[in-house]
Amino acid sequence: MPQPILTIKKLTKIYGNNVIFRDIDLTVAEGDTIVIIGPSGTGKSTLLRCINLLTHPDGGEIWLDADEITAKGANEDLVRQHIGMVFQNFLLFNHLTALDNVKLGLTKVKHMNDKAAEAKAFEELKRVGLSDRAHHYPGQLSGGQQQRVAIARALAMDPRIMLFDEPTSALDPELIGEVLEVMRDLSKSGMTMLVVTHEMGFAREVADRIVFMEKGNIVEEGSPDDLFYRPKFERTREFLWKITELYGKKENADGPSAAEDTESNQPAAEENA
Ligand SMILES: Nc1ncnc2c1ncn2[C@@H]1O[C@H](COP(=O)(O)OP(=O)(O)O)[C@@H](O)[C@H]1O
Ligand SMILES: [Mg+2]
Repeated sequence: MPQPILTIKKLTKIYGNNVIFRDIDLTVAEGDTIVIIGPSGTGKSTLLRCINLLTHPDGGEIWLDADEITAKGANEDLVRQHIGMVFQNFLLFNHLTALDNVKLGLTKVKHMNDKAAEAKAFEELKRVGLSDRAHHYPGQLSGGQQQRVAIARALAMDPRIMLFDEPTSALDPELIGEVLEVMRDLSKSGMTMLVVTHEMGFAREVADRIVFMEKGNIVEEGSPDDLFYRPKFERTREFLWKITELYGKKENADGPSAAEDTESNQPAAEENA
């Protein structure tokens, strides 16, 4: 097996006397898209924040390729260049155009010259389908477009891995699809991704593995088919039922997925037999 891009070993995070999670292990292989699901307050955001060094774990290790990024003296700025993060609320600078939002890290962090940074930023906007919005300010863009700018900004740093924390949760329903489409393309292009989302249609189609977290534990992980059709734990089944009921409606409006087709065809075939 090739060396994983991301290796999390016995990671522990404690706020005050509240243990958010203890001894979490997770590995992400190159090119994989891992979707993390689980109830609110379970520690999913905290886990991503630890990986991006926005908060420091209280135990355990995080390795990016062959480097321990949680080691004392690790270069946080460098680590964040390698680990792109996309937040629920975009976090764009409102006084900067889309292009300048994407350009900023290239000039300030990567010290590219203005012309090269501009060209690169424009390429990244093109990649998320926004070359015609380069000179718009966030206030002139829809939420879906703003989130795509945020994705372009993270991609501009040429990260090894992209983290997404509920990237479509703040969006009106009609704007979710355009963001998921960009993420789907990114996944198919071979980007390594760790995605916290409730979008089960996306998870089922794109995830190599789904990780179910509850109360700070990884309850189980497996392929989408394993978790949807052969969950090991009743808790996993219950959560997936609940979440599909809540978020799965519009997904069905596009017609059932191939997997659902097979499922619904099975009983009919048996009846005919
Ligand atoms: N900065 C913080 N200080 C104290 N407690 C926090 C902080 N951030 C998160 N928590 C707590 O950690 C737990 C997990 O939160 P979070 O990682 O946001 O969960 P999720 O993303 O799964 O909804 C929650 O109980 C939350 O209140
Ligand atoms: Mg969260």
